[in-house]
Amino acid sequence: MSTQVSAIEQAARKLEAGGLVAFPTETVYGLGADAENPVAVASIYAAKGRPNDHPVIVHLAPGADLDYWASAIPDEARRLVAAFWPGPLTLILKRHAHIPDAVSGGQDTVGLRCPSHPVAMALLSAFKGGKGGVAAPSANKFGNVSPTAAQHVQDEFDASAGITVLDGGSSQVGIESTILDLSRLDTHGPVLLRPGHIGAAQIAAVIGAMPVAPDASAPRASGTLESHYAPKAPVALLSGDQVAGVLNALADKGRRVALIHYSPLLTRASAQHPLPEDPAGYAHGIYAALRAMDGTDAELILVESPPQDDSWLGINDRLRRAAHGAHGTIDRLLA
Ligand code: TXA
Ligand code: MG
Repeated sequence: MSTQVSAIEQAARKLEAGGLVAFPTETVYGLGADAENPVAVASIYAAKGRPNDHPVIVHLAPGADLDYWASAIPDEARRLVAAFWPGPLTLILKRHAHIPDAVSGGQDTVGLRCPSHPVAMALLSAFKGGKGGVAAPSANKFGNVSPTAAQHVQDEFDASAGITVLDGGSSQVGIESTILDLSRLDTHGPVLLRPGHIGAAQIAAVIGAMPVAPDASAPRASGTLESHYAPKAPVALLSGDQVAGVLNALADKGRRVALIHYSPLLTRASAQHPLPEDPAGYAHGIYAALRAMDGTDAELILVESPPQDDSWLGINDRLRRAAHGAHGTIDRLLA
């Protein structure tokens, strides 16, 4: 952990003064501002180029007072907090009336999460004496791949944005937090808005009910847009047994194709990036792999599709969104 205590203290003062601070979490890096300062929150949206009706997650210090932020806290929420905080789980609860609606894009709810990265916990504890909340979406331009290293954040924003970046090494989990909506428990049950490292079965084991998929009435969530988490080059997903054939055909046409794979594949890719075959190791590396392959001259990033079982749910969700909109690219490159 290269970030010094004094740098964290300075960053906390900057947040208190309405400034922007990017900080490491165990999932991805966040771009933070004082959640109770609507002008500061608006500057996050401006820096990201994000529509301002999209809600942001409020990050809390360990032991924070949930009742300050949420107006109704079901017992399920308290049990999940006890089981998984600090950690990669965001809970959507009814928003307390005094919390500015800038953080929730005008909705009557608030997303709360207590991250477990030591730099994030130290920053949140130093900010307003641990009693504040830091609104923070992922520290990337809207729609781009989320950053899992300080360098990725530097690559997203230029210096004129005036963002302080705290370096906490590479984010261990590597994909964004699981989001569980408990704000309409009575009518809709627990709703899994975004899958992540903490799976539905783990949640069910704590609250005694299996989270359900969102229906059409679920709240807007930018991380749930069809196209998101996407590099600049088009991304295509192919099963392992299709990869070699497609790569050969593309290479015969002189196409430059980068490959992200976990099987031991021998290919004619212009660049390749192996990832571990276990879901935790794969999630840790996938965003850095997408960024690295996007940084080559490849015209296409081919990703070997991971298995479909539950432990890969969050990863497959992100890959599907990264690939959205690239349909037809392989045919075009072969034509
Ligand atoms: O792991 C994470 O969650 C990271 C780190 C920085 O904590 N943050 C993150 O933030 O992924 P962001 O803004 O990129 O994605 C947060 C998602 C968005 O899809 C947003 O719409 C949803 O959470 N969200 C936040 N508050 C919400 C609310 N009140 N109701 C529904 N969805 C909400
Ligand atoms: Mg994001």
